[in-house]
Amino acid sequence: MTVRLTISILLLLQLQLQCSATVFKLTNAVCESFNKSWVEFELCRLRAVSRHKVYLNLNVTLHQPINDIHIKGQLMKKENGYKPWLYSVSFNGCQFIRRRNNPLIKLVWDLFKEYSTLNHTCPYVGQQLIKDFYLRSEKLPTPIPTGEYLVQLTWIINKKPIAATNFYFMFVEDL
Ligand SMILES: *[C@@H]1O[C@H](CO)[C@@H](O)[C@H](O)[C@H]1NC(C)=O
Ligand SMILES: *[C@@H]1O[C@H](CO)[C@@H](O)[C@H](O)[C@H]1NC(C)=O
Ligand SMILES: *[C@@H]1O[C@H](CO)[C@@H](O)[C@H](O)[C@H]1NC(C)=O
Repeated sequence: MTVRLTISILLLLQLQLQCSATVFKLTNAVCESFNKSWVEFELCRLRAVSRHKVYLNLNVTLHQPINDIHIKGQLMKKENGYKPWLYSVSFNGCQFIRRRNNPLIKLVWDLFKEYSTLNHTCPYVGQQLIKDFYLRSEKLPTPIPTGEYLVQLTWIINKKPIAATNFYFMFVEDL
């Protein structure tokens, strides 16, 4: 009886969650290396596991120890093509990972850190993985307008752009 009641409540809760659900999912991932003697992407792929859940898997080899990395990030929103939207950031990756002192970057970092092998200080070297990462709207402090977005990241190693990653995602508020 209790078990059945619990199950009913769980089903009800799930139904409710589904009704008020937001869609927050990756729609495309593109990884490019400009210098394969530094960075080589073995895998950069999305896999849909359900209608609104898409995993990102990334396997990248860093052929030389990285002690100096800057990341340039730009958030874009689609309106007749992708246009810069709200944020653009540029930060020192080795410094951020030591101090975690930038709230905006920390927000993004907190979304995916547990899915990656990157949770340690510099240097980074060898194989790095992001495994079955997916976007979770409950990790966002505020909803964003419904739309299609793109996060463009340029990875600058020893002052030279070495790689670029584009992650496309969509956000749909309250279906
Ligand atoms: C790639 O990096 C290596 C090592 O730093 C450097 O010798 C080479 O010139 C770079 N190649 C290009 C195309 O920038
Ligand atoms: C990542 O790529 C390397 C090189 O292709 C491969 O040896 C390794 O098994 C891959 N790792 C995972 C977890 O897919
Ligand atoms: C990441 O590293 C920090 C500091 O070393 C640690 O407190 C935290 O628990 C780690 N998180 C994960 C998900 O491994």
